Amino acid sequence: MARKTASSFFCSKCGYESARWFGRCPACSEWNSAAESPPAGGAGAARPARGRWVAGAGAAATPRALADIDTGEVARSPSGIGEVDRVLGGGIVPGSLVLVGGDPGIGKSTLTLQMAFALAARGTPVLMVAGEESDRQVRLRASRLGPVPAGLDILCETDLDAALAVASERPPGVVVVDSIQTMSRADVEGAPGAVSQVRECGLALLRFAKSSGTTVFLVGHVTKDGAVAGPRVLEHMVDAVLYLEGERYQHYRVLRAAKNRFGSTNELGVFEMTDAGLREIANPSLAFLSESARREPGSAVVASLEGSRPLLVEVQSLVSTSFYATPQRVTTGFDPRRLAVLLAVLERRVGLRLGRHDVFVTVTGGIRLDEPGSDLGVAMAAASSFRGRPVLDGTLLVGEVSLSGEIRRVSRIDARVREAAQVGFKRAGVPAAQADEARGAGLEIVPLATLRDAIEQLLGERVAAPPAEREAAQSPARAAGEPPRRTPEPARGPRAPR
Ligand code: TYD
Ligand code: MG
Repeated sequence: MARKTASSFFCSKCGYESARWFGRCPACSEWNSAAESPPAGGAGAARPARGRWVAGAGAAATPRALADIDTGEVARSPSGIGEVDRVLGGGIVPGSLVLVGGDPGIGKSTLTLQMAFALAARGTPVLMVAGEESDRQVRLRASRLGPVPAGLDILCETDLDAALAVASERPPGVVVVDSIQTMSRADVEGAPGAVSQVRECGLALLRFAKSSGTTVFLVGHVTKDGAVAGPRVLEHMVDAVLYLEGERYQHYRVLRAAKNRFGSTNELGVFEMTDAGLREIANPSLAFLSESARREPGSAVVASLEGSRPLLVEVQSLVSTSFYATPQRVTTGFDPRRLAVLLAVLERRVGLRLGRHDVFVTVTGGIRLDEPGSDLGVAMAAASSFRGRPVLDGTLLVGEVSLSGEIRRVSRIDARVREAAQVGFKRAGVPAAQADEARGAGLEIVPLATLRDAIEQLLGERVAAPPAEREAAQSPARAAGEPPRRTPEPARGPRAPR
């Protein structure tokens, strides 16, 4: 592995390497992120080989014909948790290094411990290297998960070399390191968690995994912007990066792959948090739909395509008169900039005067919608709240909204509509161009050419006239009862929402 040697600084945010100190990272533009790497310099070839687990790494240095390599070598073995296997692309690949990232407290330790349980129960020896918790703490956590299987060892150690020495003496099938931020190597500068330590520990684990054929799961804490030193640096070297996500106070957790050398990154595993650990959710679509809310104005159901599986998710929106000079646009689980675009389209192409309203959008279940097929649903949820009319009961909304207000095609419309049919939906509003494709599932199909069509055809009777509606019904220029301090809106054109 030829690596650049002698780089002595790198960015603690993105891992950019440089021989010189820099005030602002040339790669990610972060200020003051330069961190000094260990004095020994080169992270790979330049370092003298040390210890048993390193020695093995040199053995495979002769090239082989790619065609001769037996793909049977990468036979996967199930992890024992179906949703984890799905996200990994079909199971654990021996000798792979997998990073399990996520916010603190999201459930990474619980998930990896459950996986260790399942693996050990199936006869794969597992070594848990606990750097954060004592063995008693881990045992306490384990006792909540059920009977502890044999073949699951725990080592409370923060010195990585010591841990690897133990692991290479009797290589288990799987090693779990919880967490990489607590591990350190004596000959590397910096406290545990410093970029230099995280990087060197990651590389040592990589060499161990590749040379011993042991699968290593690395737990790493990340903050929302990835600011904590480490995981970003690790992302480059590991085979797969799985992120465990969810809203802290909601009980669903979603496991998704941000990188996967052995499979697709689109797959998604869905879990529910319980007292006895994470429980796999067999039918996430049902779980994410709240029955009662569907008749309310401001609610819409979208089918977001997550890997091979469409997921029905409810979007809720609340539009109310703003009492601020700059209306608020607050979202949970949806990109606020995308919302701003959709609101501008609603304003300019449909004529909904949303410019002086606060708009809140929430995706239920702690799911994040980042796929264009959910545009229509989000726009309709906002329009529905604004107008005070619910979306027709039992309607699925699928489509991308263009800047001109047209409903664009989405991928795999048939799969999305079929999923809705399975959980009892009656009709689906789909891009007009895909109406024929969508018909197979037995739902009533409403072909939609534009967002205006969707609002005309799919918003039901008015429920009550909320302030937003009364105001919209009046002259659009100026609504009654508004605080006079507000500056008048420009005659044409939407205000730029944030
Ligand atoms: P933990 O696995 O320790 O999170 P992390 O390792 O990511 O910091 O979980 C945080 C807390 O939540 C812990 O007190 C256990 C609790 N928890 C449950 O009770 N049930 C669950 O299903 C999960 C995932 C966690
Ligand atoms: Mg933990």
